[in-house]
Amino acid sequence: MTRPGKRSFQAALIFLSVAQLAAGLKCVCQLCINHTCETSSDGACWNSVMLIEGKEETVKSCLSPSELNGQVFCYSSRNVSKRSCCFTDFCNNETLHLHPEKPVEGSSWSTLQLVVMSLVPCLLLGVGVAAGVFVRQSHRCAYTAHKQDPEEHLDDQMLMSTDKCLKDLIGDMSTSGSGSGLPLLVQRTIARTIVLQESIGKGRFGEVWRGKWRGEDVAVKIFSSRDERSWFREAEIYQTIMLRHENILGFIAADNKDSGSWTQLWLVSEYHEHGSLYDYLNRYTVSVEGMVVLALSVASGLAHLHMEIIGTQGKPAIAHRDLKSKNVLVKKNGTAAIADLGLAVKHDSTTNTIDIPSNHRVGTKRYMAPELLDETINTQSFESFKRADIYSLGLVFWELARRCSVRGLHEDFQLPYYDLVPSDPTIDDMRKVVCEQKLRPNVPNQWQSCEALRVMGKLMRECWYVNPSARLTALRVKKTVSQLSATKEIKI
Ligand SMILES: Nc1ncnc2c1ncn2[C@@H]1O[C@H](COP(=O)(O)OP(=O)(O)O)[C@@H](O)[C@H]1O
Ligand SMILES: [Mg+2]
Repeated sequence: MTRPGKRSFQAALIFLSVAQLAAGLKCVCQLCINHTCETSSDGACWNSVMLIEGKEETVKSCLSPSELNGQVFCYSSRNVSKRSCCFTDFCNNETLHLHPEKPVEGSSWSTLQLVVMSLVPCLLLGVGVAAGVFVRQSHRCAYTAHKQDPEEHLDDQMLMSTDKCLKDLIGDMSTSGSGSGLPLLVQRTIARTIVLQESIGKGRFGEVWRGKWRGEDVAVKIFSSRDERSWFREAEIYQTIMLRHENILGFIAADNKDSGSWTQLWLVSEYHEHGSLYDYLNRYTVSVEGMVVLALSVASGLAHLHMEIIGTQGKPAIAHRDLKSKNVLVKKNGTAAIADLGLAVKHDSTTNTIDIPSNHRVGTKRYMAPELLDETINTQSFESFKRADIYSLGLVFWELARRCSVRGLHEDFQLPYYDLVPSDPTIDDMRKVVCEQKLRPNVPNQWQSCEALRVMGKLMRECWYVNPSARLTALRVKKTVSQLSATKEIKI
């Protein structure tokens, strides 16, 4: 079931099938020894340019098969980013530009590639089909029974003709997929069959809606085309291989619908009716057990995000950079999921580099660690970003612990430093309080009389140290809170 007008994509898929039988590719790689990298047998070369703080930043590298599966990233797009995946040795050896005055270089496919793309598909079609058959036979897939070519397993008609629910699709993806997300066409089909119901939240970028897909609730974060870079970045982070975790918001799909004059950018995720931890704590108090479950799940989500897992099924270490109660969601079962990964950065431990040029002052001022406020942070070290997250985690724990009701006693909901800075504090307001006066949120004396609150109070202080290296790690916080939850009866 081929689609007219999608020749490049089709050809890319045919190449892909053939590449699956061939050896790896050599690609230009800026951050590699000899500026060269080699893909495994079914990878691709990557070439992109993005506008970062008004400057074009290019990235050339190798793509692993799993990264390639989330093909949303092989698109070329409008003003703020261009990207292409290609499938011949050193095919990414051209420099992409965003500005129209450099139209030749700006093309996603080089002239040579275009010639190759128009001639070679005929020759390779037969081989491609054979490769497709070979690949299909070696992979068990729910949709492959009637397939003819490599594109078909992504076909939306097939998806729509099944009665799969989101859980099945996500389950299929986790057990048999790449570990990085649903195939592009499946994502697109899901996104385009969602019916929006009501607006549920607004943050920095666009609006979040509750939508319905096949009778199930989903959350749709809609970005304006002006914020394409943020949409792209968040989708990219969510599709990091093996990121999926019960305490990280479950990503479903990204879609960019070009409606002529403007582009609608959607991020679809699991919907959590309680909304953010901020909303939840404003509305309800929590029991000691409820507090421990929430604290443990936020710490577990952060520990997973921060952890590097080595191996083919591994994941890079990721720092969130905007952890706060508004970016944590509360699930029906009382656990939490970390959301809003739009500012996150990934660590490449082989080159010891961070995946985007890191602008260190990007989060929410109120939650910024002292070293971010006074700009003493060492941005060369990835550890620094994790440690800044831990400081923010301590503040989220403080918001949570205040709402823990013991013998009917609790405090009202407040944001950290509510008594020390104005409602929309500037960096300078924050710096004076946090760095100069070295103040931290008040830990009430009565917390000493409840074991869980006493431990929480101690934990948050150990997340707030001025010296970032003295702070606890997410894993340590998780272990301490889990000991608390393992205590048979939490002493009150
Ligand atoms: N999956 C979801 N389920 C329920 N509410 C959500 C969901 N995602 C976001 N929200 C609500 O929308 C708000 C903004 O979402 P967020 O992803 O933080 O966007 P932004 O990048 O604009 O800050 C959140 O604080 C929360 O109240
Ligand atoms: Mg947010």
